[in-house]
Amino acid sequence: MSFKTLDDIGDVQGKAVLVREDLNVPMADGRVTDDTRLRATVATLNELADKGAKVLVLAHFGRPKGQPSEEFSLRKLADPLAHVLGRPVAYIDWEGDKAAVAALAPGSIAVLENTRFFGGEEKNDPAVIARFAGLGDLYVNDAFSAAHRAHASTEGLARALPAYAGRAMEAELKALEKALGAPERPVAAVVGGAKVSTKLDVLKHLVSKVDHLIIGGGMANTFLAARGVDVGKSLCEHDLKATAEEILDNADKAGCTVHLPYDVVVSKEFAANPASLRTCNVHEVAADEMILDVGRQAVEALGDVLKTCRTLVWNGPLGAFEIEPFDAATVALARTAAALTKEGSLISVAGGGDTVAALNHAGVAADFSYISTAGGAFLEWMEGKELPGVAALG
Ligand code: 3PG
Repeated sequence: MSFKTLDDIGDVQGKAVLVREDLNVPMADGRVTDDTRLRATVATLNELADKGAKVLVLAHFGRPKGQPSEEFSLRKLADPLAHVLGRPVAYIDWEGDKAAVAALAPGSIAVLENTRFFGGEEKNDPAVIARFAGLGDLYVNDAFSAAHRAHASTEGLARALPAYAGRAMEAELKALEKALGAPERPVAAVVGGAKVSTKLDVLKHLVSKVDHLIIGGGMANTFLAARGVDVGKSLCEHDLKATAEEILDNADKAGCTVHLPYDVVVSKEFAANPASLRTCNVHEVAADEMILDVGRQAVEALGDVLKTCRTLVWNGPLGAFEIEPFDAATVALARTAAALTKEGSLISVAGGGDTVAALNHAGVAADFSYISTAGGAFLEWMEGKELPGVAALG
């Protein structure tokens, strides 16, 4: 799709620019525990401030459902944001915001209070859209990770003011277009995670899009069971057998090769380095054992698949990666993907909270071509859905 970017925004000197960012960062004891999303704002906010705009950051924090509270206030993020931007950031609450915005000097940055303190934000209420629009001359959406919500600050404003994609949004959309829009083939997708039920639409969409679908994590057990494998005590959604069969059939028809593990790491207990740990063929899982990771031979074979591919999209770990040694398959395949990316033979795009944590754990996040900061939005994009916040920019 085509959309306007900051290259098209023209002269912003002295203009008030509303910039939707995603400041929904994890915090513990009043401190930001992962500032990835804050760092993603730097390019856009500093560029606009350097060009003399009054930069007004709009964002949500948590799910306060229209109830203002200190717990969900964005006041506490002004300092962490100033820290990553390397310049002061003012905080403006929803009382007296008009006067505070008018008093801002050109070239300065302010974070407005949580947009979700207005109940109408999540309803895309015209009155809330008008309330926000009244504060600015222009609108920039830089928050891909909130673009799956048709909210006043993500979708409504893009229709109320001249709208542009910020630098992070632009980079994200370009990377995603390269990965699934018009990708270099062959394309592989890794889809992992605990449950098939959370990623049904992703799997259904991907079989018609990719050449190789690598299924890992607990969800692989459901597919193995659908193929008649006895998965013992493993996490498995037996009630989704018919759905799994349908996905496998559709993959067949679309010429997509589905890769399920043929050797697996099993244990009788889900604990770090358990005594009962062993690796076996998928047909040898005992009734009291659980599959907790993909086996080494299967991972090597998957690495060989990636070597034949030009593009990779990754969402979800291959095993129960939070506990050693069930991180081994995810780490090994992530390292292969990273090495191929570094060599220049693979474009690798990954997204989703667990995935980013897994790639960080493998120490390879920086070597992937692109890592999305989005959770739900990344999944909806993998489902082939149009994201309202993106569509409104077109
Ligand atoms: C996220 O954390 O994925 C985004 O900020 C969206 O948050 P939400 O799921 O509360 O809309």
